[in-house]
Amino acid sequence: MNPLHPATFAALHAQAFPAEPWDEATFTTLLPQPGMRPFLDERGGFLLMRIVLDEAEIITIGTIAPRQGIASALLAQGIAAARAAGVARLHLEVAEENAAARALYAKFGFTLSGRRRAYYPNGANALILTLDLV
Ligand SMILES: CC(C)(COP(=O)(O)OP(=O)(O)OC[C@H]1O[C@@H](n2cnc3c(N)ncnc32)[C@H](O)[C@@H]1OP(=O)(O)O)[C@@H](O)C(=O)NCCC(=O)NCCS
Repeated sequence: MNPLHPATFAALHAQAFPAEPWDEATFTTLLPQPGMRPFLDERGGFLLMRIVLDEAEIITIGTIAPRQGIASALLAQGIAAARAAGVARLHLEVAEENAAARALYAKFGFTLSGRRRAYYPNGANALILTLDLV
C-alpha cells in the first residue's frame, strides 16, 4: 500500500465509515497539507495526523478488521511520531456514542477536554479528547 495514495485512504475510509465516507478528492486535498502524517497498516487500517508546532490532531483513524490491535498499533506509531516531532499535546474529536473508539482512546490515556454539542450531521455530540505527551 502506498502511504501517500489518496485512493488507498479513500477505500479504507469508506469501509471503516460507511455512513460518512471521505472520497479520493478529499484525501488528495488532505494528504499533501503541511504537517500531515499518514499511517497505514497492511492488515487494513489507516491514521491521519496533522502536526502544527507543538500540537497535533488525529484527523481520522479506522480499521476494516476490528479488534485485532490494528488501531492500537497505528495510534502507537502516531504518538511516537508526534513525540519525535516535539509535540506536547495530541487532540482528537470522537462522537460521544462511539463506545469502541472511546475505549481505545481511554486505553492510551486520552482525557476529556471539551464537548461540542450537536457537532455531527446526525446530531451527535463530539467529545474533544487530549493526550499530554510531555
Ligand atoms: C474504533 C476503531 C478504530 C478501533 O479499532 P480496532 O483496530 O478494532 O482497535 P484495537 O483492536 O486496537 O482495540 C484497542 C482497544 O479499543 C477498545 N475497543 C476496540 N473495539 C471495541 C469495541 N467494539 N467495543 C469496545 N471496545 C473496543 C478496546 O479497549 C480494545 O482493547 P482490547 O481489544 O484489548 O479490549 C474501529 O472500531 C473503527 O475503525 N471504527 C470505525 C471508525 C471509527 O469510529 N473511528 C474512530 C473515529 S474517532
